[in-house]
Amino acid sequence: MKKLGVIGHPISHSKSPLIHNYWIEQHGLEGKYEALDIEPDNLEKEIRRLVDEGYEGFNLTIPHKELALDFCDEIDDLAKTIGAVNTITVLDGKLHGTNTDVFGFIQNIKENARNFSFTRKPAVILGSGGAAKGCIYGLLQEDVREIRLLNRTREKAEELAKLDPRIKVMDWEDREDALVESGLLVNTTSLGMDGQPDLELDLFALPQDTLVNDIVYVPLYTPLLQECEDRGNPVVTGIGMLLHQARPAFQYWFGILPEVDEELMQKVLA
Ligand code: ATR
Repeated sequence: MKKLGVIGHPISHSKSPLIHNYWIEQHGLEGKYEALDIEPDNLEKEIRRLVDEGYEGFNLTIPHKELALDFCDEIDDLAKTIGAVNTITVLDGKLHGTNTDVFGFIQNIKENARNFSFTRKPAVILGSGGAAKGCIYGLLQEDVREIRLLNRTREKAEELAKLDPRIKVMDWEDREDALVESGLLVNTTSLGMDGQPDLELDLFALPQDTLVNDIVYVPLYTPLLQECEDRGNPVVTGIGMLLHQARPAFQYWFGILPEVDEELMQKVLA
């Protein structure tokens, strides 16, 4: 019986156990995936203890993704570049860290907006936190033509822009102007999430065929997505990123790349 888990603090609302246990059952595998609440101060010690108990893999979520960079025995280039580990695989007692959020972000768009071209028009990214970094990295890998990056704290956007000359930083106050002739708009800020303020954004300059994605998925249709859908824009919700980032993690542990099917989607949204 393979033992796996998602580590966070808090963790009780995590959908990851539901997702991974669904696939374990679907593929007739011997395994159990749990939610593990561990405080940041004890993270390395507790992970090593879990490994001694026989755990073979972990996902990491808030606030642990950056901390794991300091103690994993091996970290792949992607996780190093993003500066965050969200998946650990235990091999011969050693912790191998990687990041599957980039795959999740790109795959969510590819699966749900089948004809979308990353290369044709500029992408607009709102926010410059950890989530934005993964999205930017994914877009660069997909040969995005240009990224217009806007963040309330401009310095953080300037820092991320050092990654690639295609990233153009604009002022947060100019976010309406950034929408002109864009092909993709992604909200990576916490604005629009339940309990957070709304994203204030006038959409008059947003072309009607611009694809809009929010990485917030509580609610599933954020006010931004709802407004965009109402005016006819194609939209992709954030839940698919959560589902798709789980697939390569499952593959690391079980050697099978599982699918996101309708039944799983309904369970996660229930
Ligand atoms: P994550 O790692 O999930 O991206 P984060 O690092 O806390 O989380 O980043 C949150 C993002 O939401 C940041 O871009 C943040 O902007 P700042 O860098 O200026 O803090 C953005 N954000 C949060 N609250 C905001 C608000 N009221 N207005 C504008 N942006 C906000």
